[in-house]
Amino acid sequence: MHITLVAGARPNFIKIAPIIRALDTYNEKYGRAFFHWRMVHTGQHYDDKMSDIFFRELGIPTPHSNLGVGSGSQAEQTARIMMAFEKELIENATDLVVVVGDVNSTMACAITAKKLNLKVAHVEGGLRSRDRTMPEEINRIVTDSVADYFFTTSVSAGANLICEGMLPEQIFFVGNTMIDTLAANLHKARKPALWDRHQLTARHYLLLTLHRPANVDDKTRLNRLLSEISALAAPLPIVFPVHPRTRNKINELTVPNLICSEPLGYLEFIYLMHHSAGVITDSGGVQEETTWMGIPCVTLRTTTERPETVSIGTNEVIGDDSEKLCHALQLIISGKWKKGSIPELWDGRAAERIVNILSQLTL
Ligand code: UD1
Ligand code: UDP
Repeated sequence: MHITLVAGARPNFIKIAPIIRALDTYNEKYGRAFFHWRMVHTGQHYDDKMSDIFFRELGIPTPHSNLGVGSGSQAEQTARIMMAFEKELIENATDLVVVVGDVNSTMACAITAKKLNLKVAHVEGGLRSRDRTMPEEINRIVTDSVADYFFTTSVSAGANLICEGMLPEQIFFVGNTMIDTLAANLHKARKPALWDRHQLTARHYLLLTLHRPANVDDKTRLNRLLSEISALAAPLPIVFPVHPRTRNKINELTVPNLICSEPLGYLEFIYLMHHSAGVITDSGGVQEETTWMGIPCVTLRTTTERPETVSIGTNEVIGDDSEKLCHALQLIISGKWKKGSIPELWDGRAAERIVNILSQLTL
């Protein structure tokens, strides 16, 4: 079976790593190359700290092809990925294209593959925030509307797909490959240099990530948000690894107790999550990782496509309500945050399940 795996942005690399490992393990177990896989990096993310560091830390092999599309507007980036990926697929025959997550690379490659009449599998299919102002929600809906197979992280994702007319036999509830990576790497988590520099101690700091356009693209709103978080968290320090989208907007900002850094590598970032008092974020993946680790998570969005992190896990979605933020931080600081549990099948074996199912498909 010839498989083309697509990854383009930071969370994609984390989700694809265990799938590659499971494909290789399957081949080794059966002593023959049942799976012939090719990995295509679209180049959506390209800084060392947004891309290569994940390949090094997670042992992901060098991609067979890097489309080098870089940044652009939504339409420009999507179009460039489609043009380059079409050429890639024509030159390298494949039976199945596997896309992960909800970034522009996911949607662009799914559409391109289907228009060449190839089968498409979507890992993390079926998630819905119902907020169509987010580019990711459009990416999810469009990707799922063309995909043939769905590997889901939750029962509710499968139910969303059924509501949209997909057939039960197309949907496989397998668990979460992002959690596979976390479970496999937590013991390798590494203290970042900033820990000693700022004399951090476990459970006495907060971790912050922000990169959603709604939170960061407007400089005034971003600055207000950061000042507010800083004031409410004081005297706790807040570690803030700054996403490149956010970086340009906060050049001249100095907020007390905010420790800004470059985006961190995975092993340093999970160390900081694991030892924090709590995390404030608008990330999708971080909502899941904090739930798995039992770390309090405050999500600065009005919706989540990952409802189990709230209903079962340690996440609360608070929008941009200052009073809710104040209350949430008080609960975290006083150690009274809700306790969560781990969603079904988030057990580190999702990729193994995916590969076993792939081996049974008649394409
Ligand atoms: C993208 C995804 C988002 C995901 C996030 C993960 C879409 C629509 N958005 O958002 O769903 O949560 O990745 O991090 O696909 N930039 C750099 N260096 C890089 C990459 C980006 O400087 O390596 C800067 C560029 O100025 C670029 C901006 O960041 O214009 C945004 O990058 P882009 O990939 O368009 O979107 P993200 O905000 O990263
Ligand atoms: N992450 C990281 N370094 C950072 C910030 C995040 O390694 O400085 C990891 C984090 O552990 C998670 C993933 O990146 O696995 C999430 O990526 P991001 O928040 O950019 O994307 P999203 O999940 O929102 O699409």
